[in-house]
Amino acid sequence: MAKKDINKSSFDETTTLKLDIFRGCFREWYPVFLHHGFIDKVYVYDMFAGSGRDSEGDEGSPLILLNEAKGGEKRKHCETLLKKRNKEVVFTFNELLQDKSKELENVLRTNLIECKKSCKFDNCPYSGSMRFTQQEFHKLINTSEVKNILKNNRYAKFILLDQYGFKEVDTEIFRLLVNSPKTDIVFFVASSFVKRFRNSPETKKYIDTSKIDWDKATPKEVHTLIKEYYQSLLPKDKDYFLHAFTMKKGSNYYGLIFCSGHSFGMEKFMRVCWKVDPEAGESNCEVGGFLGRGSFFPELESKTASVENELRELVLSGEITTNIVGLNYALKLGCRPKVFVDTIFALEKEGRIQFEGEPNKTATDIHKAKEFRIVVK
Ligand SMILES: C[S@@+](CC[C@H](N)C(=O)[O-])C[C@H]1O[C@@H](n2cnc3c(N)ncnc32)[C@H](O)[C@@H]1O
Repeated sequence: MAKKDINKSSFDETTTLKLDIFRGCFREWYPVFLHHGFIDKVYVYDMFAGSGRDSEGDEGSPLILLNEAKGGEKRKHCETLLKKRNKEVVFTFNELLQDKSKELENVLRTNLIECKKSCKFDNCPYSGSMRFTQQEFHKLINTSEVKNILKNNRYAKFILLDQYGFKEVDTEIFRLLVNSPKTDIVFFVASSFVKRFRNSPETKKYIDTSKIDWDKATPKEVHTLIKEYYQSLLPKDKDYFLHAFTMKKGSNYYGLIFCSGHSFGMEKFMRVCWKVDPEAGESNCEVGGFLGRGSFFPELESKTASVENELRELVLSGEITTNIVGLNYALKLGCRPKVFVDTIFALEKEGRIQFEGEPNKTATDIHKAKEFRIVVK
């Protein structure tokens, strides 16, 4: 059956939310690497780029990325790039269909021409930075050119995988991406469809659905289950961050999976998710026991309360013995690290633990936090 072309009708509410999240993530991510002294090149890959707009003229992901890269009305990122002559940015917009790719190129080049009309700078840092490819994603990602970029530690990579369905991120591609340094990934999964077609050999080629305990989850938790599946593909000792954001559309559940090898990358993604869902940072609906907005069931815990309880137990049982371990743990549970700081300072006030070293309340940029020990009394 032919897939409905997402760019041929107006983006629905869920697609708009997805695009808002892409925007938020890239807005947080881009300046970090633009200003990063160790990074020579910034690569932005929109691997399933589409044709640029929907039927109403609303911006798709490529326009969102390009416009964010300008840095607002004042074009502060353009200014930074023009000053930093040794920093290069390369956008790759990959779209399999030739006509969509051509249309996209036209849309983006027109955008830059229009942008130049009101620009105070003589040169445009992005005029030569866009590449348009028309390849099957799995072929493109396996080219030696892309593989060399992926493994280069001095190149920052932002990879957007806005696939239809779920078949593009198989085990091999997932492992290739998560093992690449300085690489942050956001990918879309039509999770309800993985569940619905879990017994089909066609699905099993991409996702080993026999490894997923489907009975463990209600339909609305299916996307979290899929995230756990991808998590299980990571080596046990790999320090890595994955987070799931579920989106409900009709009776189906879709979602995004955020992947970062660095706590700072995940802190940034988490900030976006918690802005969209201030109750739990994980959905536009009710997931698990976390009812979110306007709950009439106060007996059900909030996500923060549940994570606080888990962290309390881990601290009191002596499993978390430093602030660094605890801050990272909170992040891996899908919470902003502040919840850990609140938990341990409450425990200290209760006289249950004491600190050794110099206690501090650092809860952002946690890779820079000064370590102190936590001792159970
Ligand atoms: C969900 S749409 C992307 C929409 C886009 N992100 C936007 O915001 O407008 C997926 C796109 O991927 C393209 N596509 C499908 N299979 C592909 C493949 N194997 N490799 C590259 N692109 C593909 C489709 O033609 C479609 O335009």
